[in-house]
Amino acid sequence: MRKYKNVGLLTGGGDCPGLNAVIRSVVKTGLGYGMRMWGIKNGFGGLVENQISELKQCSISGILHRGGTILGTTNRDNPFSYPVLRGDEVLYEDRSHQAIQNLAEKNIEALIIIGGDGSLHIADDFRVKHSLPVVTIPKTIDNDLPETERTFGFDTAVSIATEALDRLHTTAESHHRVMILEVMGRYAGWIALHAGIAGGADCILIPEIPFRIEGILNKIRDRKKQGKLFSIIVVAEGAFPVGGQMTVARVVEGSTEKIRLGGIGNKLVDIIEEEGKLETRCTVLGHLQRGGSPTAYDRVLATRYGVAAVNALANGDIGCMVALKHNNIVCVPIEKVVGDPYNIPLNNELIKVGRSIGVSFGE
Ligand code: F6P
Repeated sequence: MRKYKNVGLLTGGGDCPGLNAVIRSVVKTGLGYGMRMWGIKNGFGGLVENQISELKQCSISGILHRGGTILGTTNRDNPFSYPVLRGDEVLYEDRSHQAIQNLAEKNIEALIIIGGDGSLHIADDFRVKHSLPVVTIPKTIDNDLPETERTFGFDTAVSIATEALDRLHTTAESHHRVMILEVMGRYAGWIALHAGIAGGADCILIPEIPFRIEGILNKIRDRKKQGKLFSIIVVAEGAFPVGGQMTVARVVEGSTEKIRLGGIGNKLVDIIEEEGKLETRCTVLGHLQRGGSPTAYDRVLATRYGVAAVNALANGDIGCMVALKHNNIVCVPIEKVVGDPYNIPLNNELIKVGRSIGVSFGE
C-alpha cells in the first residue's frame, strides 16, 4: 500500500463552527503517523495561487473552540472554472493543472478536503481528472449532504437558532405579535425543522413542504381562539408557497452554487399583515448561524471525522467521504455523495413529531 508522507489540507465553501476542531484533529493525527501536513490557505483559490505552508503542532494550538477556520475559505474559486482577468473581462478557465503542479512542488501526494456540496464536486473532479488521492470531510450548517446523518456545524447552527427563538418568544408574547425567524439551510429545511421543534415554533416552513398562506393564518387564528395572542414562525430560506418559487437574495458569479437564497421571511411579514391583519416582525438570523464557537457535539464530531479521514488515507481508503451512520464513522465513495442535496424525507420522524404536537407546516 502506498504511504502518504506529505498531505495537504484545505477548507472550502462557507465556513461553519467546528472547522478548526477538524483541522486540529487532522494535523495531530497526521503528525502521529509521521506525515508532513500542509495547510492550503483560502480554499481552492489558495491551491491555484500556491498559498501553501506547513502545519506543525504549534500551528494548531488553542484552536479547538474557535469559530471560523485558521486556513481561510471561500465559496467561489473552482480550479476547473477559475476566474482570470483577460483585459477588462473576467473569463473562467481550467487552472486545475496549476493546482496539481503546486502540490507536486511540495511533494504533496494526497489532499484532505473539508467542505460541503461544492467542495465535494471539486474534490471528485480532482480524483477523476487528475487521479489525485482525496479524502473529504462533510462540513456545512445545512446538514444537506447525502450518506451521512450529520455534517458538523449543524448542531451549532440549530442551537443558535433555538436561542433566537427563545428570545423571540418573550417579545412576541409581550406585544401579541407574530414573530418570524428566517434561518439558513439552502434547499433543505433541516435547520428550520430542528430549531423549530427545539424552540417551540407554531409554524415550521421548509422547502420540502410548500406552504399555503391560509394554512399559516389558520394556525395563528386557532391559537387566538385558545387565548394565545402571539405566534412564532420559523421559515427556512428555501421555503416557498404552493405553486410559487424560492426567494433569491443574490447571484454570486464564479461560485459553484451561484444562487443565494433569502428574503422569504420579510415577504411573509407583508402577506400576514395584509391578509391576516396581524402585527408581524421578521428576524433574519443570517451568518450568526455560522459564526462563533462550536457546540460540544460539533467539536466531538469534527474531531472524530478528522481522525477518521487521516486513518482512511493511512489505510489507502481514498476517494471517499467520512460519514456518520448509526453513530459510527464510516467511509463512503465520493461518487455516492455528489449530486442532489439531501432533503428531509417526508416520512422523517421529526416531521411526524411536529404534527403530533400540533405544529403547522403551513399546509
Ligand atoms: O451553505 C451554508 C450557507 O450558510 C447556506 O445556508 C446559505 O444559503 C449560504 O451558505 C450563504 O452563503 P454566503 O456566505 O455566500 O452568503
